Amino acid sequence: MELKVSGLSKSYRRGNNKEVRAVDGISLAIDKGELVTVNGPSGCGKTTLLLMAGGLMSPDRGEVLLGGRDLYALPPEERDRERALRVGFVFQQFYLVPYLTVTENILIPSVGSGTWSPSLEERALELIYRLNLGHRAEHKPGELSTGERQRVALARALINEPSVLFADEPTGNLDDDNAEIVLDHIAGYAKEGGAVLLVSHDSRVGNRAHRVHRMKEGRFLEN
Ligand SMILES: Nc1ncnc2c1ncn2[C@@H]1O[C@H](COP(=O)(O)OP(=O)(O)OP(=O)(O)O)[C@@H](O)[C@H]1O
Ligand SMILES: [Mg+2]
Repeated sequence: MELKVSGLSKSYRRGNNKEVRAVDGISLAIDKGELVTVNGPSGCGKTTLLLMAGGLMSPDRGEVLLGGRDLYALPPEERDRERALRVGFVFQQFYLVPYLTVTENILIPSVGSGTWSPSLEERALELIYRLNLGHRAEHKPGELSTGERQRVALARALINEPSVLFADEPTGNLDDDNAEIVLDHIAGYAKEGGAVLLVSHDSRVGNRAHRVHRMKEGRFLEN
């Protein structure tokens, strides 16, 4: 298994506010070559689940095995390194760097993980063309449409050829044609041997999935 998540739980507490149990005992596993989707309404805990599974937020309970290594049992620096080398993350809010161009944004993870090389710039260009961004390579995020920014975020997540791709609402802001392009690309990434975990409230993303988990109030409905 490329990714194995067991018994993950997370509650948020804020001041005197009532505790929100965002994720409540979720388990799932994804092998190389598989695309798994989690589908559920706004607020059911999808982003919380994805952040924990991707090594970005410690769970209250449960564990995450990435390539067989228990992520949250590692010292923080080592966990960061694992994540930089093995994880690609498409954030719901993109988090592009405003003063860098599209091409530079896509190359950020390769700098962080020390994998930069001239051939990576070629890979960045290839991603730019395949994701329909050819005419925007030297633009800054502020000059792009939301859908274009979303595709830059996907290219950035793929630049290091991660073993697991985590995607949070990757079609949320796209018209049908561009949603199709993005989903093709993500499904293609799985076909080439990647493991993909995609969360969305858009039930259409399940069409190409190997497994679809339906989520409600922090839990999966089936399995
Ligand atoms: N930092 C936080 N502090 C307090 N509560 C939070 C925090 N982040 C999320 N929540 C709450 O946890 C629950 C799950 O949130 P989450 O963002 O995981 O949902 P989601 O399924 O991704 O929703 P959406 O489809 O709108 O993106 C919600 O009730 C939300 O209000
Ligand atoms: Mg979300």
